[in-house]
Amino acid sequence: MTPTLIATADPSFAPAAVAELQKAGGQIVAELDPGIWTLELPGDFFALAELWRQNPPIFVRHICPVQTILSLADGVDSVVETAVLTFTHLLEPDWPFSVQTRVLGDLKIKPFDINKPLSQKLTEASGTPLDVRQPFQILSVVLAGESAYLGLSLAVNNLSDWAGGVRRFAREKEQISRAEFKLLEALEIFKIELPPRGRALDLGAAPGGWTRVLRQKEQYVTAVDPAWLHPSLQKDKGVRHLRLTAEEYLADYPDTYDVIVNDMRLDARDSARLMGEYGRYLYPHGLALITLKLPEKRYDSALDHALNILRQHFTVAGARQLFHNRSEVTVYLKKVSK
Ligand SMILES: C[S@@+](CC[C@H](N)C(=O)[O-])C[C@H]1O[C@@H](n2cnc3c(N)ncnc32)[C@H](O)[C@@H]1O
Repeated sequence: MTPTLIATADPSFAPAAVAELQKAGGQIVAELDPGIWTLELPGDFFALAELWRQNPPIFVRHICPVQTILSLADGVDSVVETAVLTFTHLLEPDWPFSVQTRVLGDLKIKPFDINKPLSQKLTEASGTPLDVRQPFQILSVVLAGESAYLGLSLAVNNLSDWAGGVRRFAREKEQISRAEFKLLEALEIFKIELPPRGRALDLGAAPGGWTRVLRQKEQYVTAVDPAWLHPSLQKDKGVRHLRLTAEEYLADYPDTYDVIVNDMRLDARDSARLMGEYGRYLYPHGLALITLKLPEKRYDSALDHALNILRQHFTVAGARQLFHNRSEVTVYLKKVSK
């Protein structure tokens, strides 16, 4: 079989990702590394990419095409030379591009050893501008075993703009929790614009990472959690901390919000039920985000169940297992449009 694409997912959710790929007609050619597969498709890569751009899968995090397979036996320089010859005329010269290289297994090559010479030579040969932060087109290079797999696509084709879906954020000195990355990644992947000076409810807010991110985005935050918030938030006048459980606040005539986020450490179905109850305290234009914590076993049925509960109260606008999610899936919700 000839691989048409490489797909990547969190190895702990591999069976669910493989099921999504098979549902799309993909047949696994090889597993290059845990959670990274080459696949053959009945159609071409771009047909699947377009389908998934409109309706993304939950567990497959990143896809990229395989258009050329080169041997690593002749060394990295030879891969770079052939790649320049193959891809120079395929680049759209006006659109910024980047080369994203992944090195799998125990190969002694660094991604930089390919990224730097290949992107430089492609820019020289084609005049295409390089932009590693916001590329329009991406040349994906995956080195595994004795082969280099290469494919050119638009960033929007790949489910994520980042190599393998690995989205890293710079750590800020004031950061309160690693959970902040989870919210930043969700806002980015779902393309969420928070309303200017909105009113936000943060359920399960402690120690306050999400609250800090929401404050940075000019939201007035009601943080609900029996646990204490970080001292830097306690003196912030834009934060109201209610030392209550979400169940207690619900019984206490909550306000209505533009944004509701929920990162409570609760079983996915219980958290979805509570979130459903909060749906009536979301303005019609409002949006909500919830992380569904999944059990190790039978996580797919727990997720289906939780999503069905949420659908009774909201429109599910997106659901993805993000790089910064551990055993969880982040779900983007809107009010049901009537
Ligand atoms: C993963 S932490 C949240 C981290 C937070 N998003 C951050 O960025 O710092 C989960 C929190 O859920 C809270 N929690 C669990 N059950 C809750 C409930 N029923 N009501 C409110 N908070 C709850 C816990 O106290 C804990 O602080």
